[in-house]
Amino acid sequence: MSEGGLFISFEGIDGSGKSTQARLLAEHLRKTGRDVVLTREPGGSPGAEEIRALVLQGDPDRWSAETEILLFTAARRDHLERTIRPALAAGKVVICDRFADSTRMYQGLSRGNLRATVDALHDLMIGVEPDLTVLIDMNPKDGLSRALGRNGVEERFEEFGEELQEAMRAGFLDLAREYADRFVAIDGARDVDAVAEDVMAAVAARLP
Ligand code: ADP
Ligand code: TYD
Repeated sequence: MSEGGLFISFEGIDGSGKSTQARLLAEHLRKTGRDVVLTREPGGSPGAEEIRALVLQGDPDRWSAETEILLFTAARRDHLERTIRPALAAGKVVICDRFADSTRMYQGLSRGNLRATVDALHDLMIGVEPDLTVLIDMNPKDGLSRALGRNGVEERFEEFGEELQEAMRAGFLDLAREYADRFVAIDGARDVDAVAEDVMAAVAARLP
């Protein structure tokens, strides 16, 4: 799918440092003359940003697990059509803060095992994976205290508690083994610059 461009996603539990690292990577690549689109999920296109408010705000019981999978996938489909594919076709580097692996973990694990449903809908409606997925691995206790320090309205998923975050951390590491060809796992429990150095090395190895 990437044609002349490169599609990079960042994954990991809440507060692991994905947004920070995605931004630093974008700044670094722009300085070296690359055309970069920094985007995020849920969101990244006007329609998907509207869906973002629906899925991240309000009562935790607002949606059934199945409806939630449909909403995240609908947002992703719009993001792919309107933002990601056109940027890759123009030869740009797309850096996406979360992508389908987040749905595999959050919707796939948080209310029973719905991974098969997530994967089936992904195959039907999305059908692509990033060229490179950077997993920022982090212990949930520290990640959660970082995330809760931010204080916002988008908190439907931030009160999962440590046990579920622990299961998701393990799940992300399993995904990294399952899709070893596109994943790089990086230890996020270090200072920002040390993590960023590893991220840049992983990306440099794959730049067209
Ligand atoms: P995520 O996008 O994974 O939820 P953020 O990048 O938003 O994580 O980081 C969460 C909070 O932790 C922010 O306040 C950020 O400044 C801080 N942070 C990010 N990376 C580090 C790091 N390596 N060490 C300490 N604090 C960090
Ligand atoms: P994000 O803004 O990246 O949160 P954080 O910075 O705390 O990591 O994502 C918002 C929340 O959306 C996050 O708790 C994870 C959740 N999410 C899903 O549950 N499924 C998905 O498919 C995606 C993309 C995000």
